[in-house]
Order: sequence, then structure tokens, then C-alpha cells
Amino acid sequence: MKNEPFILRDLFFKHVAQTSSLPLGLEIREAKGVYLYSADGRKFLDLISGVSVSNLGHGNKEVAEAVKRQIDKYAHIMVYGEMIESPQVEHASLLASILPPSLNSVYYVNSGSEANEGAVKLAKRVTGRREVLSCNNCYHGSSQGCLSLMSSEEFKRPFRPLLPMIGHIRFNSTEDLCLITDKTACVIIEPVQGEGGVQIPKPGYLAALRKKCDETGAFLIYDEVQTGFGRTGKMFAFEKYDGVVPDILTLAKALGGGMPMGAFVASGELMKAWQSDPPLGHITTFGGHPVCCAAALASLRYMLAHKKELVDDAERKSALFVDGLKDHPLVKEIRAAGLLIAVDLHDCDKAKKILYLLLDEGVITDWFLFQPTSFRIAPPLIISDSEIVYAVKKIREALDKLA
Ligand SMILES: Cc1ncc(COP(=O)(O)O)c(C=O)c1O
Repeated sequence: MKNEPFILRDLFFKHVAQTSSLPLGLEIREAKGVYLYSADGRKFLDLISGVSVSNLGHGNKEVAEAVKRQIDKYAHIMVYGEMIESPQVEHASLLASILPPSLNSVYYVNSGSEANEGAVKLAKRVTGRREVLSCNNCYHGSSQGCLSLMSSEEFKRPFRPLLPMIGHIRFNSTEDLCLITDKTACVIIEPVQGEGGVQIPKPGYLAALRKKCDETGAFLIYDEVQTGFGRTGKMFAFEKYDGVVPDILTLAKALGGGMPMGAFVASGELMKAWQSDPPLGHITTFGGHPVCCAAALASLRYMLAHKKELVDDAERKSALFVDGLKDHPLVKEIRAAGLLIAVDLHDCDKAKKILYLLLDEGVITDWFLFQPTSFRIAPPLIISDSEIVYAVKKIREALDKLA
């Protein structure tokens, strides 16, 4: 139908709820590798991976086949945690095999927010404490619990009352670690702050945080929803920065290989807490959906089989972006953790405009929730050197237009 894109567009604006007054509004027909193809025949280089989801790129054959195979066997059969479903068991076993021994039990949920909800609840339930600490400019999700963890008053004010007894420490401030006490149930932190604009931990900061948590009996929760699965150049960011092992690790985004899935991972001993006082202390109907777990399993297998090109090479590819952009006069600072990159222009207006300039040129980038002077580059890990060279050229041309 000739006018179909325009009809769909109208219906999109009429019937699909939007969260901003200026949604990108691209109608995507197909996505393959690092490219999205729009209904009006344009090709877009994806430099954001659906916000750190499509780490394997779009249309990975093995993941797609696994989804098809599983849906032919069974999709949903029973609420989470009751039946033995092979995609879940195989995925949990494989995930546990690449994590430290203390992270050997996986609780599957539907999203990053729900993973963080479950992790904080587990910390409260096991420690019997009520106080929770998170970081300035953190983002852990949009549910009311996760919203309570945010520091941004702008985001929280319209939704109060929120959870009480939440405090904040400044990311990278060893001084603020004194706020962690024997009343603290947990500290939840992104080892690299994503929406804060790729804030990287100073050497020793996370080790000092771990030490303080150990001294006070507070749980340490790492939110690796955005940094997990190769994004920072290690399978998980905790391996990269001080080698600190959290008590609870939360995952989502790339976990599901493009399907919606979250998880929090802790020791089997801790997870037993869900079975009593009260039993069913956290339940979820669709958590660990068999089709999502089949996708996650295929995705993790693929990533492990291609670890050299995908994960181990992310830092080198990141350097291609950084070296290609750092000498542009408008670029004031670049913060990079593997292929999670913030290009800081120290200018909100220019950082806002560049996204549209690049979009016109067929390159998709993004902003950060809490760092308005930067724009984001987080491509699928499969991006090739020549695609990076092309992206850098396009970004430099857009920067030139803003100069
Ligand atoms: C670090 C981090 N945690 C949690 C979330 C929330 O995940 P979800 O949108 O799946 O609820 C996000 C989403 O951007 C995130 O970046």
C-alpha cells in the first residue's frame, strides 16, 4: 500500500503513548547487523543498539532460530519458579559458569527495573535493615521503587510520596562512604554510570566501597543492566574496575539477546530468603519466559564463542572512536568504557542539535538522561573498523556544522 508509512505514522501518534514531545518517529522496516532500514528507503547506522540491548547487532541468526525453535515447543506455561523449563535452567547454568562462585543463583524477571526492585528487596529482607543508598545521577529504572533511588528531584517530585529511607552518595567520592553504616541494607550502584553520562570509577573507589560494605554488613548491588555482556570490553564491568564482586548483580538489556528479560543474580544461600517470611516474597508471572531465555541462551553462547571479536576487541574499537573525535575543537572531553562512550561538548544546545544533524545523515546517536552536555555512542559490538571510520567522519562533519 503506497501510503502505508503515513497511515502508520498517524496511528502511531494517535494510539501509541509517547514519552517525549519529539519522538524520533522513524518507521523501521528491517534491522540487520548495525543498520536499521526505514519504510521510506533510508539506511541508518545504529550507534546506540536500542540503548545497549543489541550488543550482537540486529538479526543474529542463532538467536532468531532459538526463538523459533522454542516457540514451537512451548511459550508460557506457568508463573515463574514453579516448573523446570530447559531454556531457563541451561541459561542460568551457563551464566553461573562465567560468574564468580558467589553469584550462582539467577532470579529471572522482565526488565532492568524489576531486577533492581528484586535486588533491593532481597537486601532488605536478608539484612532486616531499611536504609538504602544509591548514587547521585544514578538510573536504575522507572518503577516507583527505582524512581525512589534516583537523585534527580525533577524526575521524582511529581510522583511523591516515594520510598522513604533512601540516601545518596556521590559517585567516586570516597569521603561519602562514611554514610554507609550498620543501618544500611544495601548500596546500589552502576559500576560505570550510564545515564549519568558514562562516569567511570576512579581506581580504588569500588574496592573502597566493597570494603566499607563488608565492614558494615551492607549488601553491595551492582546494576550492570547497561554495562553487562561485553559493553565495556569485559563480559561484566565488575571484572574491569578493581575486580570487585558484588553481593547481587542485576542484568537486563543485552541479557535477552533482543528479547525482554532481566535478572538478578546472588548466592543460592541468599536467594533462599524468597521461600519464607513471607513465602513468594517476590513473584512475577512472565519472569524467565522460555522464549526469552532461549534467546538469552543463544545470545550468551554466541557471545562466548565470539568473545575475541566482540568483547575483547571493544576497547580497541572504542579507541578508534575516541582517537577519531578527540581533536575536534568542539569536543571537550570523551569518557569511554569500551563501547559505551560519552562525547562531551560542554554545551547543552550543541549536544542536543547534533543528534538531529546525524539523523539526517543516517546515523543514530542518543543523549543521556543526566548529562545534557554529552551525546552517546554505544554501537552493537559487531561494528567493523570501516563502519567506525565512517561514523567518525559523519560525526566530525556534524560537529563542523555546529562550530
Ligand atoms: C543502569 C540501568 N539500570 C536499569 C535500567 C532500567 O531498565 P529497564 O528499562 O529495562 O527497566 C536502565 C535502563 O536504561 C539502566 O540503564
